Amino acid sequence: MAGKFTSSTQAIPETGTVPRHIAIIMDGNGRWAKKRFMPRVAGHKRGVETVRAMVKACIARGVDYLTLFAFSSENWRRPVEEVSFLMNLFVSALQNEISKLHANGVRLKVVGDLSAFEPRLIALIREGEAKTANNTRLTLTIAANYGGRWDILQAMNQLALAHPEKAGAFGEADLAPHLVMAYAPEPDLFIRTGGEKRISNFLLWQLAYSELHFTDTLWPDFDDAALDLAISSYCQRERRFGRTSEQLTGQMPAVSPAPTIESSTSRRDA
Ligand code: IPE
Ligand code: IPE
Ligand code: MG
Repeated sequence: MAGKFTSSTQAIPETGTVPRHIAIIMDGNGRWAKKRFMPRVAGHKRGVETVRAMVKACIARGVDYLTLFAFSSENWRRPVEEVSFLMNLFVSALQNEISKLHANGVRLKVVGDLSAFEPRLIALIREGEAKTANNTRLTLTIAANYGGRWDILQAMNQLALAHPEKAGAFGEADLAPHLVMAYAPEPDLFIRTGGEKRISNFLLWQLAYSELHFTDTLWPDFDDAALDLAISSYCQRERRFGRTSEQLTGQMPAVSPAPTIESSTSRRDA
């Protein structure tokens, strides 16, 4: 019965502590602008300021990984002017922010299918990643031209090419290292601003056991207080990962064989 007690989800993190990894769908920029009779893109511009503030706030709160959904693989369907504004905004944000991120000990990662971007944007991304590669205070991941289905498929394709002989017998632990965020633990806390209650093809694999927090606050209005509200809601959750509440609080011993929750990666490495 190999695998009966395995889980793709990592060891149970301590609850009641600050989440190690926060992943955010930054939604509501367009509506923020519309409410002010401004063009949608003004909301995107203002949204960059929120990104800056949240990086600072996460560092101050001891969060290790902050992952932000900036552009989905579906966002190409938007009007061409908006897409091109977003691309230019990405370029200028990288030009303006990389040195500051570096000075603050932030490691930058950009995940997604970058091949669709202009060469100068790809070059800026690579430069930024290289410059900040050894920083350890916070890992800031920007998901750009990212889709959860794309991620799983590209991982599957890499795996199948590397181990064709094992086709039909791949396990979760074989796939996980090929996902684009293999360097990070799974998100503890997922936040979506802007009122929609959906995942919109974000980290489909990695969000399996994340705590979800939805807020009506539009991304440009999201601030330290809104982040603290999300974190304090997270701190009150009991993350059971399939167990019962009694097992977690020690009122009831774990059944035999002890169903220790460990990733199938660590099981294999053990
Ligand atoms: C999120 O804000 C930013 C991106 C998807 C790039 P939106 O642009 O989706 O804002 P709303 O949802 O239309 O208000
Ligand atoms: C999700 O927001 C993607 C990003 C924030 C980058 P959308 O605004 O594109 O999501 P839908 O279309 O409302 O699901
Ligand atoms: Mg939206």
